Amino acid sequence: MTESKGSITVGGKTVDLPIKKGAVGPDVIDIRSLYSSTGMFTYDPGFTSTASCESKITYIDGDAGILLYRGYPIQQIAEHGDFLETCYLLLYGELPTGNQKADFDYRITRHTMIHEQMARFFQAFRRDAHPMAVMVAAVGALSAFYHDSTNIADPTQRLVASTRMIAKIPTLAAMAYKYSIGQPFIYPKNDLDYTSNFLRMCFAVPCEDYKVNPVLSRALDRIFILHADHEQNASTSTVRLSGSSGANPFACIAAGIASLWGPAHGGANEAVLKMLEEIGTPERIPHFIARAKDKDDPFRLMGFGHRVYKNYDPRAKIMQMTTREVLNELGVKDRLLDVALELERIALHDEYFIEKKLYPNIDFYSGITLKAMNFPTTMFTVLFAVARTVGWIAQWKEMIEDPGSKIGRPRQLYTGEPQREYVPMSKRV
Ligand code: SDX
Repeated sequence: MTESKGSITVGGKTVDLPIKKGAVGPDVIDIRSLYSSTGMFTYDPGFTSTASCESKITYIDGDAGILLYRGYPIQQIAEHGDFLETCYLLLYGELPTGNQKADFDYRITRHTMIHEQMARFFQAFRRDAHPMAVMVAAVGALSAFYHDSTNIADPTQRLVASTRMIAKIPTLAAMAYKYSIGQPFIYPKNDLDYTSNFLRMCFAVPCEDYKVNPVLSRALDRIFILHADHEQNASTSTVRLSGSSGANPFACIAAGIASLWGPAHGGANEAVLKMLEEIGTPERIPHFIARAKDKDDPFRLMGFGHRVYKNYDPRAKIMQMTTREVLNELGVKDRLLDVALELERIALHDEYFIEKKLYPNIDFYSGITLKAMNFPTTMFTVLFAVARTVGWIAQWKEMIEDPGSKIGRPRQLYTGEPQREYVPMSKRV
């Protein structure tokens, strides 16, 4: 990484600061010496202009609408690869050879089962518990069942924990779904690929054979690829911050799932479908566009806008194509797709959305696709978590293996009371 110099003058004092140049994208001003040199902090709530780390995994050019996984464009990976190949790429930095892919698939496949006692863990929940609440708890509980892969200082245990996490997250997700509908858990089958296995664990019943639809399996596998990683988004930053204290990887991923659940983040796919159902017909779109533009109305167009993309989210384009593919395969004509397409058309021509560079993001079309596949809306963010687990693990692993990584401990701008004396109860009015 090449360096140049910048300087900042604050309080009449000029301080030299190194400027680091990445492989692509914006340079960064290294402010680590700022506080000791000036006694001042930087201030950036929401980290709109802050690089929290150095990473080699994923790169987004928000203005151009570009997303690269280890340098490969998302369009090419989605078209030519499969999800486990993407997992290998994100974890190890290179596309696997045939032997490496076969070995990786073998390892993941043989870690998909869950400790049998964990099945009892689900019984503690009400049947109508939101599956994301179950996932936060179940993934955190993995550290209670797999002690032998929680020592993060041991590279072997890190590899085992990473493998277990990627392998078991679909099994746990399917169990959360089955529990919510009162059906028995379905064990994984080792002769199925990752995504076909997941579909079978979700939709098979013990009373009859289940045949995975290859078109749906390929579509869902592509959806997993699209959701696998995305730089330092809220949930990934949560995983990194949790991991920076030395917490075990299962606990860190549970924290990531909790953050992803928010409707401003991964929960948006569920919120988009609820919004489309509330809009109901294309005729009602102008009313909701007006609400989205009204400063006094908290309503936002779910599935629109992004902190980084100020152009069309490249994943949304692939998502829209996948939606049509799935609806055609299933012979489903979903009026919500008509509403979504018309909403997108109107919004993309509206001055407000153009001026604020608000485009559809990955969540805008994913819900329609997952609904057509018979997933309930409460499972949409769970599926996002299944896919994003590899990104969280890859980013966690990169941080743990970075010799310069430190515990994350931001400072603040304090605007509370200056020091004051305690007032005894008798003197309080
Ligand atoms: C994901 O970070 C990632 O990479 C996330 C993700 C990933 O893969 O990990 O891509 C996944 O989370 C996608 C985003 C899903 N969320 C939604 O679809 C929810 C709806 N979108 C908004 O909540 C919002 O766009 C965010 C949260 C996504 C981004 O918010 P920012 O970057 O903080 O932008 P902002 O709130 O400062 O908005 C800028 C302006 C504001 O107006 P002004 O105050 O400048 O007048 O745009 C407006 C906002 O009011 N705006 C919207 C809007 N999004 C932003 N107005 C109406 N509808 C919207 N959706």
